[in-house]
Amino acid sequence: MILQTEYHQRREQLMAKIGNGTAIFHSAPIAVMHNDVEYAFRQDSDFFYLTGFNEPEAVAVLAPHHQEHRFVLFVQPKELEKEIWGGYRLGVEAAKEKIGADEVYPIAQLEEKLFQYLEKADRIYYHLGQNENFNSFILRYWQRLMAGYQKRGTGPMAIESTNPIVHGMRQIKSAAELEIMRQAVAISVEAHNHAREFAQPGRYEYEVQAELEYIFVRQGAIGPAYPSIVASGANSCVLHYIENNRQMQENELLLIDAGCSYGYYNADITRTFPIGSKFTPEQKILYEIVLHAQLEAIAQVKPGNPYNQFHETAVRVLVEGLIDLGLLAGDFEEIIKEEKYKPFYMHRTGHWLGLDVHDCGAYKHGDSWQNLQPGHVVTVEPGLYINPEIKTAEGQPEVDQRWRGIGIRIEDDILVTAEGNEVLTAGVPKSIDDIEL
Ligand code: GLY
Ligand code: MN
Ligand code: MN
Repeated sequence: MILQTEYHQRREQLMAKIGNGTAIFHSAPIAVMHNDVEYAFRQDSDFFYLTGFNEPEAVAVLAPHHQEHRFVLFVQPKELEKEIWGGYRLGVEAAKEKIGADEVYPIAQLEEKLFQYLEKADRIYYHLGQNENFNSFILRYWQRLMAGYQKRGTGPMAIESTNPIVHGMRQIKSAAELEIMRQAVAISVEAHNHAREFAQPGRYEYEVQAELEYIFVRQGAIGPAYPSIVASGANSCVLHYIENNRQMQENELLLIDAGCSYGYYNADITRTFPIGSKFTPEQKILYEIVLHAQLEAIAQVKPGNPYNQFHETAVRVLVEGLIDLGLLAGDFEEIIKEEKYKPFYMHRTGHWLGLDVHDCGAYKHGDSWQNLQPGHVVTVEPGLYINPEIKTAEGQPEVDQRWRGIGIRIEDDILVTAEGNEVLTAGVPKSIDDIEL
């Protein structure tokens, strides 16, 4: 659980960086599915990270230079009629105490009350994101403030994105955040282990999906962190396969890429295993290469290593394996430089993980990759995908029929520690001995 004191510390950390500026964050909007039907509400991750407040139609203002109100919230007021239809609201009074704001106003007063927090600010910290309406509101508001500058002699002279500050903070996970991530991982590990035993020939992919997601929700998760991928046979060659409607057959592989979202923190795990039996020789050879690539890549996840190093390591091991099998031909370094491996391996080896599945934060600063630090969480997820229709790079050999239709990915969630790393998702087996029946 994240305590109010931690949210407070995060806001203080942000305010220490913005001097005489004022930072503004908008909650996520309610997304409409169709007509009057709405998607389940999912809070904006930055807004949630700084407030812990989980309602739509809200704005948070951080004004470190203001005499009395450094943290101000605008929220939906309590209104029985609206709550009967749309769910409970914390309301103005309770938000002050529960969220720890210095002042709380009904959202309808935003236009009127915001002025006092901006008139003396030297800049507005606001990320011009996907909320077009609010972007326009902020720009109009700024324009009005600028128009009054001559008389007042104060007011924001620029708008600066909050992303570099807030996303830099979000990249390093606190002990409390890691505790929640471990819970997301534990639930997802249980789901994967159950799914592997459940996935027998004759069953449908959607049955496996249901088993996974049943465990997610039964264990208190919000639900899947992303649409669960349950891909049997050649479906495993489709990276974002989510139809999940095929009957699984003996002698095929099943690729499951699924994780839950718990307290808004996500797990992201992929395993590939034979359905109800043993690997065929081709499946086994390719699996060994991917596993080797993943283990070597994980060994590169440690403090001080540039972010890209584990990806480069994975690519080298995969390419070496493909050359040994005759699936790639030519000079090793040239294959890598010219990316001739891409028909077999077309994605990167990982991403940051946290409140977002593909979590925020820079991978690079200019030309240099960010160095890994304790508290970073990354996924390591190499794969090989031999699509039945695979088109190899120019000058490369045709792929023999026996390899086609095999897709393999192995994905773990890795915490960078002071000593090296910890594989958070180690509870789902991946060695051949452990996953063959
Ligand atoms: N499941 C999404 C990903 O692996 O990036
Ligand atoms: Mn991933
Ligand atoms: Mn994944």
